[in-house]
Amino acid sequence: MSKKVRFGIIGCGLMGKEFASAAARWCHLNEEIPCPEIVAVCDKNPAAVDWFSKHFPSVTFTTENYRELLTRDDIDAIYCALPHNLHAQVYCDIINAGKHLLGEKPFGIDKEANETIVAAVKAHPEVIVRCASEFPYYPACQQLIQWIQEDKFGKIIQVTSCFKHSSDMDPEKPINWKRMIEINGEYGCMGDLGIHTQHLPFRMGWKPVNVYAKLSKLITERPDGKGGRVPCLTWDNAVLTCDVKDKDGSLFPMMLETKRMSPGSTNEWSIEVLGLKASARFSTNDPNGFHYTQSWGKEQAWCRLNVGYKPLFPTITGGIFEFGFTDAILQMWAAFLCEIGGMDPKFGCFTPEETLLSHALQTAALESHKTGAVVALND
Ligand SMILES: NC(=O)c1ccc[n+]([C@@H]2O[C@H](COP(=O)([O-])OP(=O)(O)OC[C@H]3O[C@@H](n4cnc5c(N)ncnc54)[C@H](O)[C@@H]3O)[C@@H](O)[C@H]2O)c1
Repeated sequence: MSKKVRFGIIGCGLMGKEFASAAARWCHLNEEIPCPEIVAVCDKNPAAVDWFSKHFPSVTFTTENYRELLTRDDIDAIYCALPHNLHAQVYCDIINAGKHLLGEKPFGIDKEANETIVAAVKAHPEVIVRCASEFPYYPACQQLIQWIQEDKFGKIIQVTSCFKHSSDMDPEKPINWKRMIEINGEYGCMGDLGIHTQHLPFRMGWKPVNVYAKLSKLITERPDGKGGRVPCLTWDNAVLTCDVKDKDGSLFPMMLETKRMSPGSTNEWSIEVLGLKASARFSTNDPNGFHYTQSWGKEQAWCRLNVGYKPLFPTITGGIFEFGFTDAILQMWAAFLCEIGGMDPKFGCFTPEETLLSHALQTAALESHKTGAVVALND
């Protein structure tokens, strides 16, 4: 029987429920990884809390006040999935209370909030703190990561990492907190989607030295859900072009695209690496496919391999089956629980140090868009 880690959840919305569902099928994992047990939840919306009480007999404490979770001795760790304006205060309180934390992106509404959180992390080395990012755990993406680690691409020509939605294409979709600057933040779509595009490149050592950004606001007003209309001021789309240092010291371009207005896209996450020796790409639109080139000298052919269900953390699912979003969530949680258990997950969740780079990049992108200039990032 795996060791148990007792969890409290703060924020029982979309992502809080995804974690609970992953925890409920921990038996899916074949390895001895500490098992999360959800013992307490906090949300100011009683209906959200009721869902947990109904489905999780292990939940013995519920509250609207997150501080009541932090003083409890029967909680070892917290998953916090709250709106961005609350990240700095709540994450710091969790860390200062000595609880392990998986926080959600963007890990602070802005650079200042992020630096406050990372300072708390540094003051508490005894707790494991990470930021959620599940997409690199698709097996076909892990295959691409392995190719990078094995240096199969040679000199890099270009890297493109994208996260695209079409969810905002409907101009009559009522506004919600993710479209309000005061709650979602100045970054707009970058705050919502940016870390997803950065996790793999940053972990592979592809760190931007500068950025040129084009940000778009396509719909400036939305229904307020009460019969009126309100301004919608967040950025809808962002295209970031960065220079990145290759191993030989030369620079290659890296494009990071985060779009809420991408016709036809439904939570489409993709990464493409083009190199002189080989190229490869992965997209959640084809979750089982690892696309790569084979070359006989002058010509290159794109090939597609059916990767199957071969995740980083082996499961009961046969290798001939397919992998999906909820599987990626389970794998990310396995990585986090490994770290809490003192094990090396091989590909871990986004780190607080990586969030510092994410915020430096996104803050520079805001400046670049405003001034029209390429903005340098400090090492
Ligand atoms: N990893 C991913 O793929 C992914 C996907 C979507 C959202 N997110 C991130 O997760 C976080 C939450 O997003 P979501 O989509 O789950 O939002 P959501 O709106 O569905 O859920 C947020 C919950 O927080 C509760 N809440 C708000 N203020 C509160 C307070 N003061 N005290 C207690 N509860 C409070 C709300 O009632 C709601 O139930 C954000 O940081 C977002 O960027 C991550």
